[in-house]
Formats: sequence, C-alpha cells, structure tokens
Amino acid sequence: MKKIVIAIDGFSSTGKSTIAKQLAKTLNYIYVDTGAMYRAVTYFALENKCIGEDFFNTEELIDRLGEITITFKFNETAGFAEVYLNGKNIEADIRTLTVSKYVSPVATLSEVRRKLVEQQQLMGKDKGIVMDGRDIGTVVFPEAELKIFMTASAETRAKRRFKELLDRGHNLKYEDVLENVTTRDRIDSTREDSPLIKANDAIEIDNSNLTIEAQLERLTMLATALINE
Ligand code: DC
Repeated sequence: MKKIVIAIDGFSSTGKSTIAKQLAKTLNYIYVDTGAMYRAVTYFALENKCIGEDFFNTEELIDRLGEITITFKFNETAGFAEVYLNGKNIEADIRTLTVSKYVSPVATLSEVRRKLVEQQQLMGKDKGIVMDGRDIGTVVFPEAELKIFMTASAETRAKRRFKELLDRGHNLKYEDVLENVTTRDRIDSTREDSPLIKANDAIEIDNSNLTIEAQLERLTMLATALINE
C-alpha cells in the first residue's frame, strides 16, 4: 500500500498531538512529536544553566548542541513513543510550565532548528509517518501529501492546557497558562527562521467546537483517500 507523509501544524495547545497520535495508530504509522524535541533541548538548556529567569546564554547552548542526543522509544502502556535525552526518559519533565515558558526562545535559534529538522527528515524518509509541529508542512516536509493546519481560540486552548496540567497534579493559575499560550503564539509566528505559518496547500481545521472523534474521522478520511489514490 502507498505510504504518505502527514504534516500537522498549528498553534500551541490546539490538540495536534492528541489527534496525530490517534491518526498514526489508526493508519499504523509512526508518530513524531517535534515539539517534544524542542522541549528536550530546552530541558537540557535549563539543566545546564544556559537559560534561566533573566539570562539566555545562546552561545553556550549552541556550543553544547553536540552533547544532545534525542531519541524516541515506544511505551506499550502509554501507546506512544516517549522522548529520551541522552538515554534518560524525560517525557514528564518536558511538559512543565517552566519548559513551556522557555521553549519558544530556544526554538528561535537557527542552529537548534537545523539540528532537529535534519533528524526529523531522517525519521520520515521512508514515509508512513504523522509528524506534528509548527514548520512540518512548510520546512521539514514541504512535499508532504497531506498537510493540516489546526487552530482554535487562545481561550479554548488555554482552558484545555490548564485542565491537562491540573489533571497531572500541577498547581498553577489559569491566567499564567493563557499568558504562556499567547506569548508562545507571538514568538512562534514572528520568529525569523521557520515561523509558524499555514502552508498554501494545508487544510485548516478550527477545532474549537469539534470533538476528538469528529476530527479523527475527518483526518482518517482525508488520509485514506490519498493512500488509496
Ligand atoms: O508542540 P509544543 O507546544 O510541545 O511545542 C513547543 C514549542 O516548540 C513551541 O512553542 C514552538 C516550538 N516548536 C517549533 O518551533 N517547531 C516545531 N516543529 C515544533 C515545536
């Protein structure tokens, strides 16, 4: 059967990874969460004091990029591939508001992007992949057969993220989550290198009022039509 590349881009907390994960499972495709890779670099930067409350030593982080190895390993119980930094499982460590706060500035660095995009292109070279991020349909796989651009209002997205973090036991304020979502939107969309923009040939889906089932059904139909072409 023909294999395709599916690129899912969009603003933060639009539920891209939830849908991408389920779509990959339905199609028996590999799923790659590229946001987790930028988060892994940010986690490294925080751990190694390259970034913090009032400083960002970009030169040191760039110099030390060679020390960073990011891998994914499928977790049978979770049903998806978890991210590892130099052999250590950091899946939970990268989902904190602290990492969310610093990840957008880290993702503006061209040196970081170059390293991660190269790895992403290798992971998708045999197709049969669903990849979510910000620049998948524009930079990583401009030739992807199916490109989706997800949107939803900032309030809808902040509410979803707030609930998700509360459910995981984090103690935080809704206003801080909303502020993080809108700040990341701004930095991700206005950065010079690979800004978050909708590819010309991407299908836009506003999922503010769509259930996960409805989104999955639509994407599965779009993908199978292309696979069976
Ligand atoms: O999808 P996420 O919220 O986990 O992504 C975290 C950050 O990483 C996001 O604010 C911007 C950056 N990112 C990026 O620049 N390019 C990607 N392909 C994926 C994420």
